[in-house]
Amino acid sequence: MNIVIANWKMNPGSVAEAKKLATSVEHGLMGIDKQKVEVVICPPFVFLPALKHALHFAHLGAQDVAHEAKGAFTGGVSAAQLAEFGVKYVIIGHSERRALGESDELIAAKLKNALAQSLQPILCVGFGAQKGAATEAVKSILKRQLEVVPKGQRLVVAYEPVWAIGTGQPATVAHAREMIQFIESEVPGVQGIYGASVDRHNAAEFAAAGIAGALVGSASLAHHEFLEIIKDFSH
Ligand code: PGA
Repeated sequence: MNIVIANWKMNPGSVAEAKKLATSVEHGLMGIDKQKVEVVICPPFVFLPALKHALHFAHLGAQDVAHEAKGAFTGGVSAAQLAEFGVKYVIIGHSERRALGESDELIAAKLKNALAQSLQPILCVGFGAQKGAATEAVKSILKRQLEVVPKGQRLVVAYEPVWAIGTGQPATVAHAREMIQFIESEVPGVQGIYGASVDRHNAAEFAAAGIAGALVGSASLAHHEFLEIIKDFSH
């Protein structure tokens, strides 16, 4: 089944707006074939309670999780806390967190904690890739970032070329497909999806190329646009 994930990042500005956006998405989902696509919304932590009551079809996701299971970690939210609350998915290793210094070792620890609590990780790879770099150079970055995945583990891996995030200029479908095929051959059992500047104008092309989903940032903040993207992945 395809999967479309909203990464709201540090948006919107208020709980009222968060509720409104989630409710509008839910409303639009009524006309979509739920056998074909799974929808996940990852709001900032503080909006999780409001969304829990607003979502019925879409699943709750978190944008991050602590690397330790419990204890004195100021600012941390543990995998057990997220699972107990009813969160199903968690984004791990997003470029915006790797840019703050998250290492593969830290990401491996987060992944381990998430899996121990039966959270479904959405592992992001592609940080460090350069626009126009040789395919082999990008693959070697991906290979290293994929080493954190335990053998035989089924999870979602989002190929997010960092140079395309938030630019309005996604990777070409051919490039995305090649990298996702590489990811799926490196780590059998994972579901490779694409993220970085996916919007309602280009989503259909990624879907038509057989890419099994998208991680959507800015285009997930307008419900009409996000619903168009979901529709494109629901055929
Ligand atoms: P974008 O963000 O869709 O705004 O490029 C994607 C992401 O960072 O996950």
